[in-house]
Amino acid sequence: MKIFKMKDYDQMSQKAANLIAAQIITKPDCVLGLATGSSPIGTYKQLIEKYNNGDLDFSKVTTVNLDEYKGLPRDNDQSYYYFMNDNLFDHVNIDKENTHVPNGMIEDSEKECADYEALIASLGGQDLQLLGLGHNGHIGFNEPADDFAKTTHCVNLQESTIEANKRFFASIDDVPRQAYTMGIGTIMKAKKIVVVVSGADKADIVEKAFFGPVTPHVPASILQMHPDVTVVGDEAALAKVN
Ligand code: F6R
Repeated sequence: MKIFKMKDYDQMSQKAANLIAAQIITKPDCVLGLATGSSPIGTYKQLIEKYNNGDLDFSKVTTVNLDEYKGLPRDNDQSYYYFMNDNLFDHVNIDKENTHVPNGMIEDSEKECADYEALIASLGGQDLQLLGLGHNGHIGFNEPADDFAKTTHCVNLQESTIEANKRFFASIDDVPRQAYTMGIGTIMKAKKIVVVVSGADKADIVEKAFFGPVTPHVPASILQMHPDVTVVGDEAALAKVN
């Protein structure tokens, strides 16, 4: 595991964007696994800037997103589909046909999850998967559990995650209770993984996830077993890491 301790959120975002840019430059038709949330927004801004400067071409890139709320229409500004268009896809020359987010409006969870897993496999898997880290160690919507979930599946969100996400909704009652997410197995099949993490409130979970025991009770701890993981954090998040 490589760890980059950067001064602040901007530096973290620049470093993560450089890693993703290197992937796109070395393999223009790469498959990027992408995340939503506050951690990667700066990274996406930097990627847009590189595109505007003529340094990056997204025309052959394919993307697969980690997760999506179940039951939230795609045009809802809190859907992850909307987030990705708003924060990245609308601003670069990616072919929207090549961008994929689980469809939360498909009621049949088993079918949507199996189809999404098959889609990722048919693309040859993610060349690079970008991740954020939840306060409870979740990655995607893989919450602490007794087992590591292998493939894309439907989850019931934990109270702590609903609480953390309520800031984006009019009230806590509007936060969806379920989501579709890549499984831990789906994430671990990525050839490279880049985790972006910022803020003092993540310092404890960074220590647990990357230096504690590997356990499904801290889902991100499994990343210690992956051969090519890079953690890019700011000083506050990596305060407990030497
Ligand atoms: C987002 C996702 C989540 C977030 C995590 C951290 O697609 O899958 O696991 O990465 O909740 O969120 P932020 O970055 O908002 O702290």
